[in-house]
Amino acid sequence: MIHIPKAEYARRRKALMEQMEPNSIAILPAAAVAIRNRDVEHVYRQDSDFQYLSGFPEPEAVIVLIPGREYGEYVLFCRERNPERELWDGLRAGQDGAISDFGADDAFPITDIDDILPGLIEGRDRVYSSMGSNPEFDRHVMEWINVIRSKAHLGAQPPKEFVALDHLLHDMRLYKSAAEVKVMREAAQISARAHVRAMQASRAGLYEFSLEAELDYEFRKGGAKMPAYGSIVASGRNACILHYQENDAALKDGDLVLIDAGCEIDCYASDITRTFPVSGKFSAEQKAIYELVLKSQEAAFAVIKPGNHWNQAHEATVRVITAGLVELGLLQGEVNELIAAEAYKAFYMHRAGHWLGMDVHDVGEYKVGGEWRVLEAGMALTVEPGIYISPDNQNVAKKWRGIGVRIEDDVVVTKKGCEILTGGVPKSVADIEALMAAARADAA
Ligand code: GLY
Ligand code: MN
Ligand code: MN
Repeated sequence: MIHIPKAEYARRRKALMEQMEPNSIAILPAAAVAIRNRDVEHVYRQDSDFQYLSGFPEPEAVIVLIPGREYGEYVLFCRERNPERELWDGLRAGQDGAISDFGADDAFPITDIDDILPGLIEGRDRVYSSMGSNPEFDRHVMEWINVIRSKAHLGAQPPKEFVALDHLLHDMRLYKSAAEVKVMREAAQISARAHVRAMQASRAGLYEFSLEAELDYEFRKGGAKMPAYGSIVASGRNACILHYQENDAALKDGDLVLIDAGCEIDCYASDITRTFPVSGKFSAEQKAIYELVLKSQEAAFAVIKPGNHWNQAHEATVRVITAGLVELGLLQGEVNELIAAEAYKAFYMHRAGHWLGMDVHDVGEYKVGGEWRVLEAGMALTVEPGIYISPDNQNVAKKWRGIGVRIEDDVVVTKKGCEILTGGVPKSVADIEALMAAARADAA
């Protein structure tokens, strides 16, 4: 299995500590276990920031980074070994494992944190934490600070400043290293196979969930623990619901099916959308809309390169889609005026993409100092234009209504342009029809 090497976690901690102000401390909690319903937990997923700095996969843990600390800069609080609990719930690293397997300089039981952490904070001028996203943990931080304040008369020095960690950490996460791109490429390739499998399996009479099962099969077979987000399998008019989740309708001959799904590998997401005909052959109207979306995506790829700004890809899709909708008679007017009036939003109401990484909608600023961010090598993003013609749109001829198409790929900005990570799924009308025809011939 491809994964982030241990040395990379150490490099990230070092890079973060180098950016912290002198005499400061950073504190980050692991994700809590989420209860699904009585006695049943959701599959555990580590918090992305915590994972980024540690690779430590357990709940009930806290990372503490203390640049310059004599007895070690990286302190990890985590659960103690416990043969009884481990028999029921699985192995724990314990404090020895935290040091030997996860690179901690020092490790303590999480149950001792209230006694130990105030002493680590004491005398530090600044505390970095991700304030606001975890109110319960924010309260704990304040309690630890108050322990120090209560000892001020004994000479204890509480910190003077609280700094949001997000800005530093999320800017680091925005730039993907070679090891990260390798993991993302792997996730993308597994997801590409899953989409191919779903296309091959598609038949009228099956259900949306039948295709979801094909996706899940490839995800798990490829080693993914889970999808990066809830898979969308939307046939017919359901494709016009952007975050459709039911996935339970019957697949009908003559309809399109839109699948937006990607797996997660070592906490890195992939995010692919393909739209194809249930029975393997596009109608004239479906093909016209599909090829317009594809053309707009190609226009976006052409402007994704270092030096261009974040919004150029979106602007490219808007221009192609608006001009195309005019040509097809779905919009009337002059292209520049329609763009200025945002007339395309009746059909294309979302943006062309988002940062991609450990979170499917990844962290990182889209604007800096009020200006769109300039693209640099290592940034990963999706390119996902779409056209959705509402079944209730009375302004267009009936033959267009209910068609929904999105095409989504994942790219990494390279020195000269971008690398498409998800090229393993066919995309042209001819290639999709050929793949589906071949699968039908095999099955016959
Ligand atoms: N799958 C969610 C998105 O495409 O943004
Ligand atoms: Mn998507
Ligand atoms: Mn996306």
